[in-house]
Amino acid sequence: MKLPFAESYKTKMVESIRRSTRKEREKWMGEARYNLFNLKSDQVFIDLLTDSGTGAMSDRQWSEMMLGDESYAGASSYSKMKNAIEEITGFPYFLPTHQGRAAENVLFSTLIKEGDLIPGNSHFDTTKGHIEFRKATAIDCTIDAAFDTTLDHPFKGDINLDKLEDVLKNNPKEKIPLIIVTVTCNSSGGQPVSIKNMKAVSQLAKKYGIPVFFDSARFAENAYFIKLREEGYGKKSIREIVLEMFSFADGMTMSSKKDAIVNMGGFIGFKDKSLFEKASMFNILFEGYISYGGMSGRDMNALAQGLWEGTDFDYLETRIGQVAYLGQKLKDYGIPLQYPFGGHAIFVDAKRFLPQLPKEQLVAQTLAVELYLEGGVRAVEIGTLLADRDPETGKNRYPELEFTRLAIPRRVYSNNHMDFIAAALFNVFERRDQITKGLKIVKEAPILRHFTVSLERVQD
Ligand code: F0G
Repeated sequence: MKLPFAESYKTKMVESIRRSTRKEREKWMGEARYNLFNLKSDQVFIDLLTDSGTGAMSDRQWSEMMLGDESYAGASSYSKMKNAIEEITGFPYFLPTHQGRAAENVLFSTLIKEGDLIPGNSHFDTTKGHIEFRKATAIDCTIDAAFDTTLDHPFKGDINLDKLEDVLKNNPKEKIPLIIVTVTCNSSGGQPVSIKNMKAVSQLAKKYGIPVFFDSARFAENAYFIKLREEGYGKKSIREIVLEMFSFADGMTMSSKKDAIVNMGGFIGFKDKSLFEKASMFNILFEGYISYGGMSGRDMNALAQGLWEGTDFDYLETRIGQVAYLGQKLKDYGIPLQYPFGGHAIFVDAKRFLPQLPKEQLVAQTLAVELYLEGGVRAVEIGTLLADRDPETGKNRYPELEFTRLAIPRRVYSNNHMDFIAAALFNVFERRDQITKGLKIVKEAPILRHFTVSLERVQD
């Protein structure tokens, strides 16, 4: 018999989670104003809000915490982080930051000014937020295939090179401070970018003299997909692929809360010393001295160790295998999803799940609320709420894709939990015709509104 798949780790410490009743959940959801960010964690049975900072650290990472060097400058923890970053990504210069959006803040303060254009593949919400906060514009150049959830394209994170070249050709160079390639592309469904595409983007960028930065939160998951799907990469190791990926970038921003499997942390990697020096000033201003940038020594140690573990093939196979396990169950139930399955999450196509709801009624959020009421499973909306209003017109932006994302924390839940999630969503799917009313906004912030928004049910 072929030996079945099994996790490449075992459990050493456990944390209790609490099941609740539907009646309790209805009360809590109302108190939370239908915003899942407002729920208390003990009101949630299985938490799929995010895979960011929610992973389980290993025994080795915890050991590294004890070895943290908390010296203000010249700490050995800084050197450990520097060595891991340099060996794994190839970037000779780096700045630590407290998380990914802090890396964006520092880098964009250095590069972006009002009126600039920043092309990329479906920029993540904080990335777009930081761009628009500076009165610049994010231009989405993702390939069209990404917007058809039924298409099984291997690299739905790829950039459409014609769209990109149009932007580069038709605008002055001074207005395009950088191109951002998000690997994997979160907003399009945790979809990878191929090496071929990275190389082509890099060549185009060189032709027009514009730097390329990778938004690298899930770079290792991207490398895993390259190994599995891209011709010529099957025999290469994850670390070889990672080095090749980053050879096509001038720098990277990193939310280490994902593929470095830590609860907090980030960094910026640079090839160019002078850009690193310019950014250092903003790092000191916003984050802290350049040898710790918002992180304690123990956290830098855990991050360095996490980078090694996060780029291990067996770990990635377990992690992405679990996401695919959930995806396959949902697929078997006939639930509409983004295909192929993402690396960190399953993205449910809410428009096709609830086609009877008009887009104004926040379809993906309505589905997330229903899933919570059904089983205490907390998902997150990647749709109209997240898309914010157009900063110029003040009108709601309705994205092509309206997702309810089931993000799977790393090394946290078992496949029994996956079965539970699938069953809960199946039950909602069975009664989908009875969901005839969605939600409306009562109160919202001008930027990144989804975190704090208050909603209510649409009445007759
Ligand atoms: N870039 C990408 C692609 C991300 O997915 C995130 C965060 C960030 C940047 C910002 O990093 O949270 O450390 O400041 N994504 C989380 C998510 C929040 O749920 O997808 P951060």
